[in-house]
Amino acid sequence: MSRQLESGSSTMVQMAEGQFALQLVSMSQALQDLLPKHLQIMGKWADRILGMYPDANPEVVKVAVWFHDIGYVDCEDYDRDDHAVYSEVRAIQFLRANDYSQNKLEQVAHCVRAHRCKDVQPETIEAKIIAVADSASHLTDYAYINLTQLGIKDYAMEKLERDYRDVGLLPEVKQELSPLYEAWKQLLPQFPDWKITDMEGA
Ligand SMILES: [Fe+2]
Ligand SMILES: [Fe+2]
Repeated sequence: MSRQLESGSSTMVQMAEGQFALQLVSMSQALQDLLPKHLQIMGKWADRILGMYPDANPEVVKVAVWFHDIGYVDCEDYDRDDHAVYSEVRAIQFLRANDYSQNKLEQVAHCVRAHRCKDVQPETIEAKIIAVADSASHLTDYAYINLTQLGIKDYAMEKLERDYRDVGLLPEVKQELSPLYEAWKQLLPQFPDWKITDMEGA
């Protein structure tokens, strides 16, 4: 995969990108269509937020970007199985096998595990950047329209609320995204409740 996060690079960031590309081919077609773009947009947010927090470790953040959703490859049921748990396991296995320092490995693992702000909350600045960049990418992509077209508009609206809550981990970013959140909130209910299937599923 040729896309790389913008500012700076390191061997482990490139290796993490390679591992993501390797695992992506085993995922569903829908994820193969969605994830590369999601990670590219998330990477842009991560770079931008890193510029606001010079004390954060950019390598930890960028490695975590590539790993945070990789656990989808192990999920049989997306509702039942928490991809963050599997993502953490895969990240640890890969980083350990490649002799990454224990300290940075633990930091990446926390970023990955806490990115959903669900049962584990982000405690470090790097983990907050990952959670915010993930949610900000949803707010600046077509994620909610995609979910609406899958016939789950209520879920899309709930996700919008969760994403806006989670960008609040970094109040400057929340403030910046506030007009977009308000716009989505007005826009989504206006969409028809049509479930759009692809030709195969039609
Ligand atoms: Fe995720
Ligand atoms: Fe994500």
